[in-house]
Amino acid sequence: MRATNGFWLNLSFAVLYTVLSVEVQGDDLVERGAKLFAGATFRGNGRTCQTCHTKATGALSIEQVNLLPSHDVLFQHDAADVMGGNTFERVRQNATFLVEVPLHENVSIAGSGSRVAVLPRGVPTVFNSSALDPVIMSDGRAPSLQLQALDAWMGHSQITKLPTDDDLNAVAAWEQSKVTVPALRRWIDTGVAPELPKGSTLQQKRGRLFFTDDNPVNGNPIKGRCVHCHSGPMLNATSAGANAIFGIPVGTRFFSAFVSEFQLGGGTPRTFEFKAADGTISTMTSTDPGRALITGQITDANAFKIPTLWNARQTAPYFHNNGAKNLDELLNHYQQYFNFVETVVGIPGFGMTDQDKADIRAYLELL
Ligand code: HEC
Ligand code: HEC
Repeated sequence: MRATNGFWLNLSFAVLYTVLSVEVQGDDLVERGAKLFAGATFRGNGRTCQTCHTKATGALSIEQVNLLPSHDVLFQHDAADVMGGNTFERVRQNATFLVEVPLHENVSIAGSGSRVAVLPRGVPTVFNSSALDPVIMSDGRAPSLQLQALDAWMGHSQITKLPTDDDLNAVAAWEQSKVTVPALRRWIDTGVAPELPKGSTLQQKRGRLFFTDDNPVNGNPIKGRCVHCHSGPMLNATSAGANAIFGIPVGTRFFSAFVSEFQLGGGTPRTFEFKAADGTISTMTSTDPGRALITGQITDANAFKIPTLWNARQTAPYFHNNGAKNLDELLNHYQQYFNFVETVVGIPGFGMTDQDKADIRAYLELL
C-alpha cells in the first residue's frame, strides 16, 4: 500500500516538476528575448529592435523621433531621405523607414531592372498582434516571427554576426508574451473571445452602432462601415456584410482602405508591370501596391493587411506609410473614402457625416 502511494506520489512530483521546468524554461526564453530585443546589436550599426519598436508602445511615434538627438543611432541608413543619405526630413515628419520589398517573379518596376521596391513604411507595434495574428508585416511578406527578426537585424541593424536559432526563438517568444490589452490576455488565458465595449455615453453608443452595424446583412437602414473589414475577435478580418457588397470571402485579411489610391501621405507613384500566366502584361501605377508585390497578382494591388484596432488609440500614426498622423486625420480619410464610394462608385447610403466621425472617434478611444 505504502509502496503504491509512494510510486504515485513520485510520479505526480515528476509530472509537476516537468510542467514547472517547462514554464521556467519558457520564462527564461522570454527574458532572454527581452534582453536581445532591447540590447543586441550583433556588431551592426548600433541599432536594436527597440530603437524603432519603443518600450512604451512597441511602435514609434513622430513625437518620439523628434525627441531624439541628431546623433542617435536611429538617424542613419534606411531612416535617411534616400537610402544611406544624410538628410532626415521624412523620418522626422512621418516616422517612416525605407523598406526593401523583394518583388514577386511576375512583377517588375517599369523602366527599372531592380528586383526590390524601396518603400517608406511606418513602424507597427509588436505588442498584442505578435501573439494573436499570424499575418506579419503590412503586406504579409514575413513567414514567421523568427525569420522576420533575422531580416530586421540584417536590414535595419546591418549586423555582421548572425544570431542563433535560439536567439530568434527567444525574440519571438518575448514578442508573443507582450499582450497589453486585458480583453486579449483573458482570451489567451481562458479562451473567452474579447467583446466590444458597450459604451456608456450616447455618443459612444452611436459610435458603437456605426462601428458594428454589418448592413446590408442585417437590413438596418443605419449605416455601419468599419465592421466590413474590422470584424472577428481581433477586429482585423472582413465580415458577411463585406461579402454581400464586395463579394469577398468572410475572414479576408488583405484589403484596400484607399490609402495608396488617394496617395494619402504623399510619396512617388511608380508604374508596376504584372505578368499573367498567359504572358500578357498589365500595368498599374501606385505609391505602394502593398500585397500585390508579394503575390504577383494585380488584383491585390493597393491591398494591405487589415490591422487589429485593439489599443490603436495608443499607436498613432496610422496606415502602412503613416499617412494619417492621428485619429482625426484617419477619420478624415475614411470620410473622403466613404463619400467617394457613395458618389463615384454609386453605392447609396455609404457616406459619413461629421457627426459620424465624432461618434466613431469617441468609440475608438474605448478599444
Ligand atoms: C529601423 C527601424 C526598425 C528596427 C530597428 C526594427 N524594426 Fe521591426 N519594423 C519596422 C518597420 C518600418 C516595419 C514595417 C515594415 C512593413 O510593413 O513593410 C516593422 C515591422 C515589424 C514587425 C511586423 C509587425 C506587424 O504588425 O506586422 C515585427 C514583428 C517587427 N518589426 C519586429 C522587429 C524585430 C524583432 C526587430 C529587431 C530584430 C525589429 N523589428 C527592428 C522598423 C524597424
Ligand atoms: C474596406 C475595408 C475597410 C473598412 C471599411 C475600414 N477599414 Fe480600417 N483599415 C483597413 C485596412 C486595409 C487598413 C490598413 C491600410 C493601410 O495600411 O494602408 C486599415 C487601417 C485602419 C486603422 C489603422 C490601424 C493602425 O494600427 O495603423 C484604423 C485605426 C482603422 N483602420 C479604423 C477604421 C475605422 C474606424 C473604420 C470605419 C470608419 C474603418 N477602419 C473601416 C480596412 C478597412
